Order: sequence, then C-alpha cells, then structure tokens
Amino acid sequence: MDSILVTGNGPLNGQIPIAGAKNACLTLMPATLLSDAPLTLTNAPRLSDIKTMTTLLQSLGVEVTSLQEGQVLALSSHNLTNHVADYDIVRKMRASILVLGPMLARDGHAVVSLPGGCAIGARPVDLHLKALEALGADLELKEGYVHAKAVGGLKGGTVEFPFVSVGATENAVMAATLAKGTTIIKNAAREPEIVDLVHCLQKMGAQITGEGTSTLEIQGVDRLDGATHPVVTDRIELGTYMLAPAICGGEVECLGGRIGLVKSFCEKLDAAGVSVEETKAGLKVARKNGRVRAVDVVTEPFPGFPTDLQAQMMALMCTAQGTSVLEEKIFENRFMHAPELMRMGAEIDVHGGTATVTGVERLKGAPVMATDLRASVSLILAGLAAEGETLVNRVYHLDRGYERVEEKLGHVGAKIERVQGE
Ligand code: UD1
Repeated sequence: MDSILVTGNGPLNGQIPIAGAKNACLTLMPATLLSDAPLTLTNAPRLSDIKTMTTLLQSLGVEVTSLQEGQVLALSSHNLTNHVADYDIVRKMRASILVLGPMLARDGHAVVSLPGGCAIGARPVDLHLKALEALGADLELKEGYVHAKAVGGLKGGTVEFPFVSVGATENAVMAATLAKGTTIIKNAAREPEIVDLVHCLQKMGAQITGEGTSTLEIQGVDRLDGATHPVVTDRIELGTYMLAPAICGGEVECLGGRIGLVKSFCEKLDAAGVSVEETKAGLKVARKNGRVRAVDVVTEPFPGFPTDLQAQMMALMCTAQGTSVLEEKIFENRFMHAPELMRMGAEIDVHGGTATVTGVERLKGAPVMATDLRASVSLILAGLAAEGETLVNRVYHLDRGYERVEEKLGHVGAKIERVQGE
C-alpha cells in the first residue's frame, strides 16, 4: 500500500488548479441512467471513486468512454443489460446507491446492494428509501440488497426529509424527473453539487425549479434527452488547498475557485487571520502575520461549514494561537484524525461530537495512519507544517478524492513524495 512522505519545508507560493467536484461527478454519472441518449461530462476529476462508479455503470450495461486523460466522460445508457448493482462494487463506495433512483424511474425495477464507503459513522440509506416510497416505489430488503419495483412507473408525490441529506435529495430528484405528475421535495439539500445536478438534468429536459433552496419542485416528463455538462469546481479540494498556505505561510492562488462555493469557510479563515482575495482566475490565499488565531467551527449542511473540511481545519487549528472548539454535527464518528494529529504533538480533547484543540507552536513529524479520505489529507497538511518528516500510511483513501496531490502541492514548493508500497 502506498504512503506519502511529507517534510516540513516553510512557506508555499504559486498556483494550484482545482479539479471538478468528485461528489458532483458521482451524482452526474448515474443521471445517464435516466436517458437512452448520450451524456457527456467535461471537467471530470481523475479519481479512483470515479473509476468505481464507471465500473458500476458498466456492470449495468452503460457504455463509458474516458477521453482527454479522463477529463471527459462520454456515457451512454441506450442498452441497459442488467438492473442489479452488485455488492462487490457497491461496498467500495456509498455513492453507488445513487443508481437506484434513476434505474427505477426509467425501467420500473432495480436491485441495489446496501452500500459501504468511508468508516465515518453508521450512514444508513433510510432517507433514500423513504423518498422513493413516497414516489410509489415498492421496496423490499433481502440479503443485503434493496429490491425496488414501481409497476406502471413512479408517481409524483411529496417528499419531506426530517433532516438534510445530500445523497437522498439527489436520488429523489433524479427519480422524480420521470415520475408521473408533480413532486415536491421539502428540506432538500442546497449543496452546489445538487445545483449542478439540477442544471444538468434541466439540460436533459427535466422540469425542475427551486435548486439552491430547500424546496424543489419537479414536474415529471416522459423522457429525458442527452446533454453535455461541465462538472462544477470541487469546493472541498479548493478548501483543502486554501489551507496549505494558511498552515505553512506564503501565498497560493487556487485556480477555478469562487467565494460562493466556500463562503462560510472563508469567514472562518478571515477570523483566523488568513486573507482570501477573489481574482479573475480563482482565489488567492495568504497568511498575513505569524500564527493564525483559534476559531470555533460547527459543521452544518450547506451553506454552513462543510463536514468534509472539518479534519483539514483541525490541522490548521493545531498550530493556532489559543483554543478552538470544533463541533461535528453531520457524522457521529468523524474525529479519527485527532489521535493521529496527537501523535504529531497536537493537543486535542475529544468528547462525543466535540473536539477542543489547544494550538501548539509547532507540530513534529511522525508516522501516522490515514483513516478516511478527508482525514488523510488533514495529516498531509499537518505534515507540511511540522518539523521533520511525516509518513502518512494507507493513502488509498486519498486517491479516492484527490488527484495528483503530490504534484499539486509539490508545484507550490512543498516537499512531498509518494512512497510505493509492496
Ligand atoms: C455526501 C458527500 C459526503 C459529505 C456528505 C455531507 C457524496 C458522494 N458524498 O454524502 O462527502 O460528507 O454529503 O455533506 O456526495 N443519513 C441518514 N439516512 C440516510 C442518509 C443520510 O441517516 O438515508 C445521515 C448520514 O448518516 C449523515 C447525514 O444524514 O449523518 C448526512 O448525510 P448525507 O448528506 O446523506 O451524506 P452523503 O450524501 O452520504
């Protein structure tokens, strides 16, 4: 298994290009199942999660052609040959559940294994299933698989989520595009990835209003067409690289970044003493003087502070002046990076969903273990700011969500290399 070796090396300067969003691409790809016409996605990120979704779609009979070194994905579902999403693929990635709504909406039946993914809490799919039931689906759970049927097709209905779920909103909105009649989704997620999905579906001919608000209204249509759609910028990759100069000093311009994608995060950076400036090409981030100040963070659905940037923000707070409190409100088991950061000299006290971090002057390099996708990159950020060498083991999680991390950070002056595993 590969590792990443990072050596603390002072300020970072230069530009980092930000890729298309993994989480947007993972919901745009299954949207192909709604139509027998081709869907072309541009600005796709080159990640192992995208390969997993490709394998899953291919197993259903979708033709997937990867062009321009993976940055363009041409998908065609004109000949679906299989309606069973197998456990062996689905267990690798939770987003696999997103094939359920579209397949059911198009053909009236689908069998999908219950998913796996990052070990950051129980992460059930009950909201996905309840939403599809509200559209008339008949569901049965058998031997780890969801067997879904909609004889005569799905019917529009009202879906009211008890709390915000990104994936369940995506499944519901895709299913509703081909349901008969009107669907109202209340307490819908407002994440930029949902807005991106809706814009793509609209290009395909779907009748949807309310994207970016908590109520979506969908008027079902008989068929959807093909489309060409650019994947929105990855706000989590953006926020991660914005933290690199914040933690090491220097000035880095993140190309393709926009404040609107990371507003609540920028407010925290500003409070910590890190400057963010919108340029023509992206966002320029610089740490002004000396150590950053401690700030408190509560993770929330968009437009709140994203849970997917909590681990990276904790790495920054480890060397801040003062004590910060980070509260994780989305996932119940998302502080697994804390004991690893403590191996590097961080002072962190975790109680339930709250971590109290007392900043230290300097972290010290150590061998550490990546436990999930965002945790692994937080350890890399910490290593960039630490004295000596940090070896981040088990980086396969990292490759699920960050393309060419060594290259991108190396380009702005970081001392970082991949150590090939056996
Ligand atoms: C998506 C993102 C993930 C991000 C998360 C929250 C993708 C591929 N992944 O995950 O990176 O961390 O949003 O911003 O887009 N829940 C239930 N029942 C359900 C569904 C969710 O209880 O049926 C719970 C989850 O366990 C969690 C909370 O709801 O506690 C929010 O999860 P959700 O928004 O659904 O996350 P994902 O769509 O899985």
